[in-house]
Amino acid sequence: MTLLFVILPLAGSLVLDIGGKSLGEYFAWFLLGYFVLSGENVQAKLEKYRVWLLAAGLACMALEILWWFDIAILPIPQIWYDIFSRVYGWVMILALMGVGRRHLDADGKFAQYMSRSSFSVYLFHQTEPAGADGAHPANQRGGNLRELRDMQEDTGGEGAVWDQEIEGIAMTIAVFLGSPRKGNTYRATKIFLDELQKCGEVRLIEFQLPGALPGFCTGCTLCLGGQREKCPDAQYVTPIAEALMEADALVFATPHYGACSMPGAMKNLLDHLAFLEMNVAPRAEMFGKKAFVLTTGAGSAAAVKPIGTFLRHWGVNRVYARGFRMFTDRWSNMPEKKQARYEAALRRAARKFYGTPRRRPYLSSIAHYHMTKFILKRYVGEGSYPYEYWKERGWFRRRPF
Ligand SMILES: Cc1cc2nc3c(=O)[nH]c(=O)nc-3n(C[C@H](O)[C@H](O)[C@H](O)COP(=O)(O)O)c2cc1C
Repeated sequence: MTLLFVILPLAGSLVLDIGGKSLGEYFAWFLLGYFVLSGENVQAKLEKYRVWLLAAGLACMALEILWWFDIAILPIPQIWYDIFSRVYGWVMILALMGVGRRHLDADGKFAQYMSRSSFSVYLFHQTEPAGADGAHPANQRGGNLRELRDMQEDTGGEGAVWDQEIEGIAMTIAVFLGSPRKGNTYRATKIFLDELQKCGEVRLIEFQLPGALPGFCTGCTLCLGGQREKCPDAQYVTPIAEALMEADALVFATPHYGACSMPGAMKNLLDHLAFLEMNVAPRAEMFGKKAFVLTTGAGSAAAVKPIGTFLRHWGVNRVYARGFRMFTDRWSNMPEKKQARYEAALRRAARKFYGTPRRRPYLSSIAHYHMTKFILKRYVGEGSYPYEYWKERGWFRRRPF
């Protein structure tokens, strides 16, 4: 057992490493599966516990989907995610074996045909991801944030390093504060940023709204046609756009206003940055940035959601969020215990945010990229700004992340 579960996979991982995937390790797992899971006793047990296994597998799947799509989940250390992924994979495999043995173990012409013919499908499904992803530089581990950025510049934004350790690395953070008051949001953001600065060398580029961008977007659409410099508010938008590009991470802090959203000042900022949308002129750098959305007010989720949606449409690598229900317009009016609890939560969130590595892009971002590529080629075409912008960067041939 020790040989199968420990020695073989570990020793195997040193053999023939291709693009971060080891043939030796996978062969060891294959042997393990063959010797352990093909046993009649084991198979009977899997069949017996199939419902529990399937329930656990589906619960893991739901968590995985939340992980990819739900911005309200706080970052967890990569090691936990790695452990979770492997547990999920194994539970699902075991569940499918149990369910398959009970309900799919039939014979007939179709089954016989598939037994003979499905091997090529199996081979294809294994080699396609290995070729497309495994050997891609995006899958190499190691490096740090600075190297990551240099690598992006060298390769025109194509290269990337996922899951790199960033402990102690210098970080520039662009901060957007959605309230002009030194109120709840200001106070919460200050605690969050103070803690971030304790984590390492953190440089902040701060913008407090609406002062940092007083003019409303007039809907002239010049920026959507590639003429950002002619925006009536260019003097404000340009430094903001530059800070967005320069930053390694972004923080959007805002109170919740009204029934369903953020203050107009914050929405105005996002309107002014509409050219960053995937279907116009997204920036390759965005795919490597993480963002934190911090909200205050009773209906925090209502403010978090639309901001998160904007950020993901820009391609932002990960959007984390935390809402604080204060039920008062003055931090000091909250009971002291609540103040202390919120302060501790903010500090904890800051530490987690700082230490969270860059991950693979959201599945939704990858899907968004492919959909936009298709629409630009099929329905928009040459001559339009988005098409030419994408073409110039070679994004019809290779992904920007
Ligand atoms: C126009 C407006 C709408 C508001 N709507 C809500 C709301 O729907 N829910 C809520 O909890 N607080 C609401 N508030 C209260 C704010 O959340 C509160 O004033 C908060 O302290 C503002 O954040 P700040 O202190 O960071 O400026 C609203 C405030 C304003 C000015």
